[in-house]
Amino acid sequence: PVKAKIGPSILNADLSNLACESQKLLDNGADYLHLDVMDGNFVPNLTFGHPMVKSLRNKIKTAFFEAHMMVQNPEQWIEPMADAGVNLYTYHVEPVEDVAKVSRQVQDAGMKVGLAIKPGTEVKDIEKYIDMVDVVLVMTVEPGFGGQSFMADMMPKVEWLRENYPNLDIEVDGGVGPKTIECCAKSGANMIVSGTAVVGAPDQGQVIRQLRDVVQS
Ligand code: DX5
Ligand code: ZN
Repeated sequence: PVKAKIGPSILNADLSNLACESQKLLDNGADYLHLDVMDGNFVPNLTFGHPMVKSLRNKIKTAFFEAHMMVQNPEQWIEPMADAGVNLYTYHVEPVEDVAKVSRQVQDAGMKVGLAIKPGTEVKDIEKYIDMVDVVLVMTVEPGFGGQSFMADMMPKVEWLRENYPNLDIEVDGGVGPKTIECCAKSGANMIVSGTAVVGAPDQGQVIRQLRDVVQS
C-alpha cells in the first residue's frame, strides 16, 4: 500500500522568511514541501515563480519540493522549475491541450509528474493519462487562496481513484487539517497538503503527526 506523506503548503507562511519557515516545517516532520505557484491568470492570485524556488533550494538542499503549478501555460515553466530543483511538477490539466506531451516533457526534464484537477473537473477526464503520471492531485477547494473550506463532495473522486489505482499517489489540497483528515484518509488519499492548519498551529509537529497517524491507521 501507498505511504502517507504530509506536505505543508507554505502559501500562508511568512514569505519574506521562506527559508526559515520551510526549515521549521521540515524539522517538525514534514515529508515534503508543497510550493503554490500562481500566475494571476489561471487563478486570480499571484505568488512566486522559479527564481524564488531556486533561492529556496540553495538554502534547503535535500527536501523534496513539489511545485503546484496553477498557471495557464505549464509547458513554459518545466525547464526553469527543473533547473530550480523541483522534484515533482504538478500541473493543472484544464488549460492543457496535449497532457501526454506535457507529462513526457516533465519526465524528460528529470522531474516526477503530477496531474491536478479543479473541483469542476471529473476524474474520467484524466483517466487515460493516469498510467503515465506519478501523482493525481484532487483539489478540495477552488485553487487560488489558502484558508478556504474543504469540499467533502470531492471525495468520490478520491475513492474512485483508489479503487482503480491501488498504488497511485493520490494527493488532496485545500482546507485539509485535523478536522477534515479522516474524510480524506478514508477515501484513500495518501499525500496530504495542509496550509493554514499546519503553518498557523502553535505546535506544527503535533499537527503533522496527527495528520500522518490518521492516514496511516
Ligand atoms: C490553494 C492552494 C493550496 C492551499 C492550501 O490554491 O493550492 O495549496 O493554499 O492551504 P489551506 O490548507 O489553507 O487550504
Ligand atoms: Zn496547492
